[in-house]
Amino acid sequence: MSDTIAASTGDTTQPPAGNERRISGVSIRLEGVTKRYSGQGKPAVDAVDLDIPAGQMVMFVGPSGCGKTTLLKMLNRLVEPTSGKIFLGDEDVTGQDPDQLRRRIGYVIQAGGLFPHMTVATNIGLVPGMLKWDKQRISDRVDELLELVGLDPEVYRDRYPRELSGGQQQRVGVARALAADPPVLLMDEPFGAVDPITRQRLQDELIRIQEELGKTIVFVTHDFDEAVKLGDRIVVFDVGARVVQYDTPEAILADPAEEYVADFVGAGATLKQLTLTRVSDVELIHPQVTRAGADAAEVVRQATAAGEKYVVVTDRRGRPISWPSVAELSRVATVPDTVDEKLPVVGLRSTLNDALDTMLAASQGGVVVTGRGGVAGVMVVETVMAAIQRTREEVQG
Ligand SMILES: Nc1ncnc2c1ncn2[C@@H]1O[C@H](COP(=O)(O)OP(=O)(O)OP(=O)(O)O)[C@@H](O)[C@H]1O
Ligand SMILES: [Mg+2]
Repeated sequence: MSDTIAASTGDTTQPPAGNERRISGVSIRLEGVTKRYSGQGKPAVDAVDLDIPAGQMVMFVGPSGCGKTTLLKMLNRLVEPTSGKIFLGDEDVTGQDPDQLRRRIGYVIQAGGLFPHMTVATNIGLVPGMLKWDKQRISDRVDELLELVGLDPEVYRDRYPRELSGGQQQRVGVARALAADPPVLLMDEPFGAVDPITRQRLQDELIRIQEELGKTIVFVTHDFDEAVKLGDRIVVFDVGARVVQYDTPEAILADPAEEYVADFVGAGATLKQLTLTRVSDVELIHPQVTRAGADAAEVVRQATAAGEKYVVVTDRRGRPISWPSVAELSRVATVPDTVDEKLPVVGLRSTLNDALDTMLAASQGGVVVTGRGGVAGVMVVETVMAAIQRTREEVQG
């Protein structure tokens, strides 16, 4: 019945978006989509037209009650539209069986929306189970997805949601939504309930996952910084889901369409430009890096020769776990494998805002930066300050 969608999942017939990004998503088109809840005068969503290109992450922002959730839920028909049409790719799905549709559209809500009485593996395997995949295939897929969202399968697959932190639950929620490799992912304020640092890591991971998978993602948020950071495009809505502006983050920051958008963007637009600067855009310092378990005296010798005061220690997979001083290392025989839970770490795709937040949260003057191959470098607060200065000068002309 919806072979079009199934066929376009994981297929690369569509042209890559500019920078050769892989696209496994399909486009979404809304034509005059309206929702009138019974007993309410004005429609919650009033005749919305919208085109969402395949493989893009499009952010929905706007005041509370303006219809963002209603619009999102009409896409997977958790809410039945009163009128209008919805297309996935070329296929009109307005009349399609909602159960079938939902298997092709992943849905992530706050706190992951996990079933508390099911293990992580069972939660993630729900849709593949409905699709009658065999047990081995489901269990392989669960492990693959846990790896993708940064959770060790051995540790987490048999846990229950209550045995996870908020951020971990959210990761499992994302894994579950991706289980059957749907071309479309809907996310309704998924990171709204976690602390700022966890939120920033989840955002970084979502960026990485999206770079890998190229889904079409519709993401509702209250946080304009989050919209700027994650979005390929942002839709700014007003009451009745009226589209006030639909453009790239850069364009909206530079030229808000109406006073209303300018207010929403906020007075700190100059500083918000910082949200557009990625850690990968600035010069990093290349620190001394060593593996846990290495001979400490040798590491100290090398670091001293290189004039370094600190050394980044990684686990056997190259992930940073601590950042001791040379003085500390000179007091031990082997480099310890202790994981510093407070270690300030950001990804290359993190924004300078995030890096600054992370430093402040850890009360440190620097952060370790990770990339694909492990530690990509170190960034110090002076670099952020210099970049802020540069950004200000550029924005002011
Ligand atoms: N099930 C429902 N029955 C009646 N009215 C509803 C229902 N769900 C939402 N509404 C109304 O429709 C409008 C849009 O609600 P919606 O939840 O889509 O807003 P939202 O933009 O997601 O808001 P928020 O940012 O607070 O999540 C609101 O006026 C709301 O009161
Ligand atoms: Mg909502």
